[in-house]
Amino acid sequence: MHPLDDSLIRDISLAPEGNLKIDWAAAHMPLLDRLREQFQRERPFAGRRIAICLHLEAKTACLALTVQAGGGEVAVAASNPLSTQDDVVAALVDRGVTAFAWHGATSKEYEMHLRRLLDFRPHALIDDGGDLVALLHRERPEQAAEVAGGCEETTTGILRLRAMAAEGALRFPMLAVNDALCKHLFDNRYGTGQSVWDGIMRTTNLVVAGKTAVVVGYGWCGKGVARRAQGLGARVIVCEVDPVRALEAAMDGYEVMPVVDAAKEADFLITVTGNRDCVTRPALQVLKDGAVLANAGHFDVEISKLDLADLAVRVRTVRRNVEEYTFADGRRAYLLAEGRLVNLAAGDGHPVEVMDMTFALQALALREVLHNKYPPGVHPMPPALDRLVARMRLDSLGVRIDELTPEQQRYLHSWRADA
Ligand code: ADE
Repeated sequence: MHPLDDSLIRDISLAPEGNLKIDWAAAHMPLLDRLREQFQRERPFAGRRIAICLHLEAKTACLALTVQAGGGEVAVAASNPLSTQDDVVAALVDRGVTAFAWHGATSKEYEMHLRRLLDFRPHALIDDGGDLVALLHRERPEQAAEVAGGCEETTTGILRLRAMAAEGALRFPMLAVNDALCKHLFDNRYGTGQSVWDGIMRTTNLVVAGKTAVVVGYGWCGKGVARRAQGLGARVIVCEVDPVRALEAAMDGYEVMPVVDAAKEADFLITVTGNRDCVTRPALQVLKDGAVLANAGHFDVEISKLDLADLAVRVRTVRRNVEEYTFADGRRAYLLAEGRLVNLAAGDGHPVEVMDMTFALQALALREVLHNKYPPGVHPMPPALDRLVARMRLDSLGVRIDELTPEQQRYLHSWRADA
């Protein structure tokens, strides 16, 4: 059967546009390119059905095609209905991948797409945010026995997987790709840092320099968003509940304060916590007129849309991806991309070269979990794979580094002072 016969997509005639986007991304993803050549020779996924639930844009397509080149039969669904690019999905189907996704799917359609992905009876999964793994365990526990394992991309997804594992509910091994150094040090920090501001700037066309940017959450993503705001000339305030991270933010040179105090000052208020209800009525009530609100956490629960709607006397769309909420006293707040991940729902996601590293880790994690016997549970990425990805990226940049001499190696591993 041709993948088109089984797929649920918006419009296959969009494929040429999507193919151009994929080709552009592929030309800037040397790590995946190298892995694709290697996988073509070694066929590590031959005879395996691989389900991919990620943000469906051009870089993700390159990962799907890399897995396909390794002999895998690949099907995809979206990890967020607003990040799906219909032309890219059409191009994937054109290239032999089965797809269940369209941009703007309702919650019901989104779940239906995930169910169709499970109907594909995968042997392994690549997940982003944990929805696919959770759905399988909730609705199709008997199918878990067919799954050799998988890998998870995000902080949010790994938290959910660990909660499942703690209850003994997780029935197969999942590699925590997010915890690899080459993931969160670069993707979360530099990828989110750049792509969040790209999303905000292309959506609003407003200047950042001279304004106040409030960043709620100082994990690796928050650090990146704050640093880029500073680089763009903003005054930066950080809100953080963890005392160590809050101290880190203060010593990195940012003002640190609670959300209700920071909200009074915000020209841009960006949540990036992975938690719910971070910006609620008390903060919304004190916003300045014209404040721009955006979320960069996985789910659209960080800024309370319920409280926003409750406070508003009028809501209207004033630009693509910009909702204006007018309060009773005339103040206006602008919510970007319905409070969903602003970098993906209102942009193209992380820069290509950054996702090249993340997806190289994903491809290697998939091979790792399929070819080694891990028990059910959440497992770290083998450090050797982290180092391999770092080396490949350094190679692609033309950066050379020194090697330890045998004497230095010995010295590092000895407790004798004269070693
Ligand atoms: N592009 C594809 N997946 C992504 C992710 N998880 N974050 C940012 N950009 C992406």
